[in-house]
Amino acid sequence: MSAAPGLDIGPARSGESRAAARVLTDAFLDDPVASAIGPRRRSHRRLISPLSFGGIVTASRRHGARVTLARRDGAVVGVVISFDPGRWPLSDGAVVYELAWVLVAGPAPVRRAIAFDRAVRAEHVGYEHMYLWFLGVDPAAQGTGVGRALLADLHARADARGVPTYLETGTMDNVPWYGSAGYSVVGEMTLPHGGPLWRMERAAASA
Ligand SMILES: CC(C)(COP(=O)(O)OP(=O)(O)OC[C@H]1O[C@@H](n2cnc3c(N)ncnc32)[C@H](O)[C@@H]1OP(=O)(O)O)[C@@H](O)C(=O)NCCC(=O)NCCS
Repeated sequence: MSAAPGLDIGPARSGESRAAARVLTDAFLDDPVASAIGPRRRSHRRLISPLSFGGIVTASRRHGARVTLARRDGAVVGVVISFDPGRWPLSDGAVVYELAWVLVAGPAPVRRAIAFDRAVRAEHVGYEHMYLWFLGVDPAAQGTGVGRALLADLHARADARGVPTYLETGTMDNVPWYGSAGYSVVGEMTLPHGGPLWRMERAAASA
């Protein structure tokens, strides 16, 4: 599928995990939730986020999530990690892919990550849905239609199954952006570290 000029959207191929982790690292470096979990120092986060996202991408590919990439001129410029209905969450064994991050991040970020994960899981919707776990666009490519193209690809799959798409975001500016793609806020929560998180959902087009 090609939804924006020069953009190729498709499943991550073997050998693309590192590039996907790099894009997610750059996209989420100043994300409010990632910053609150830590490490709090930006330079430290920049150093270890590739480990964290490398683990997340590999675990996702092996344990039931979908990693979809946007490529421009062969380079990865955007990443979506999503779950088809009934596939969320990753199995407990997938946590092994987080070990490298756990070892270098230190105990406080790990403690905050666990608390965050528990709080968010507790609010997760119980009905059939597509779950958008991560969406990140290379900062140099933001505002050029990559995010919209990745969403369109995800929504096409959700619409074919007739299920809503659900996500959480801790970035206030993302709320109107997702709103313009058909999402509404279905809940707002306060995270253990004190920051807000908006829970959003888009109904299936056929619903
Ligand atoms: C949020 C993010 C995924 C958006 O992706 P993107 O590729 O930059 O966005 P696009 O270029 O596809 O979207 C641009 C469109 O959104 C519109 N837009 C931008 N900001 C907007 C806003 N606050 N409200 C409504 N529309 C907005 C633009 O006008 C443009 O519209 P057009 O397609 O009609 O021209 C990207 O900025 C990103 O990776 N951010 C950091 C990580 C993150 O927050 N991810 C989401 C976590 S839930």
